[in-house]
Amino acid sequence: MKCQRCDERSVIELRHCNAAYCSTCFVERCRERVQGTIRRHRMIRPGERVLVAVSGGKDSLALWDLLLDLGYEADGVYLGLGIGGYSNRSGACAREFAEGRGARLIEIDLERDVGFTIPQAAPVRRAPCSACGTSKRYLLNKVALDHGYDVLATGHNLDDEAAVLFGNVMTWNLPYLARQRPVLPERTGFVRRVKPLVRLTERETAAYCVIRRLDYIIEECPMAAGNRHLVYKELLNSLEERAPGAKATFLRGFSDRLSPLLDEIAEEERESVGVCSGCGAPTTEDLCAFCRLRDQATHPARGGRRPPSRRRSG
Ligand code: FES
Ligand code: ZN
Repeated sequence: MKCQRCDERSVIELRHCNAAYCSTCFVERCRERVQGTIRRHRMIRPGERVLVAVSGGKDSLALWDLLLDLGYEADGVYLGLGIGGYSNRSGACAREFAEGRGARLIEIDLERDVGFTIPQAAPVRRAPCSACGTSKRYLLNKVALDHGYDVLATGHNLDDEAAVLFGNVMTWNLPYLARQRPVLPERTGFVRRVKPLVRLTERETAAYCVIRRLDYIIEECPMAAGNRHLVYKELLNSLEERAPGAKATFLRGFSDRLSPLLDEIAEEERESVGVCSGCGAPTTEDLCAFCRLRDQATHPARGGRRPPSRRRSG
């Protein structure tokens, strides 16, 4: 099959959009799609500093590479989650990329910097991934604020977003649906969060890394086994097999038609935010989710409660 842009021999066929590309045109197309997404959703404004959340996997490394090639001022942040050999290998991929591109990588080690690892926090949560998600959301935002970045960019791709949407629809979780957007605007205590890869599939980001010779960690996180998100991904993959393009249509329909109707719920959520009495971060509870997790992980015998004298008010 020939590349639909230049007539060279194609190296990838994309059934969901009925197209095939040679390696040069495929990379070019990835750049155009990401740039188009950034412009359409006003994700990054001229002169803004971007912090890329880098896990060492294909999506975050592809994102960092694409942003640098598109001319953005993009540094990376890597969180060492303390998940044994998996963390060692993913950290090595992140470092290798940063060195190769001469880019700045900020490293946070959970055990050293916050006092617990994800495996230590996992027993207090039903699914380790929820402890992981809470830690990532909190720490990535904190690093971005502390270092004065304007935007935090994450590597969520089309498959990730479709699976999250599927899960939120299955439970009709309206606050989560209201928050599921390619851009979450900045507000007090929160840096703007953007997802520039929402129009690229997982297969496309993997192909991009192979073509660009980016060494990424292929193995899945060992703690993710049994995660419901993976089940939703599998279900959507078998649907996509039979109906190519189904995932993209599902996600686009939500973004274009349903998401705008949820603006009011998103606004109510924003208004109900107060300040964590433990760390001062925005939260709707007395203690934010991360402070509760840290308390539980570091003081399990006390049921996760710190003695009153250690707690700050307001
Ligand atoms: Fe978060 Fe595996 S990467 S639990
Ligand atoms: Zn807190």
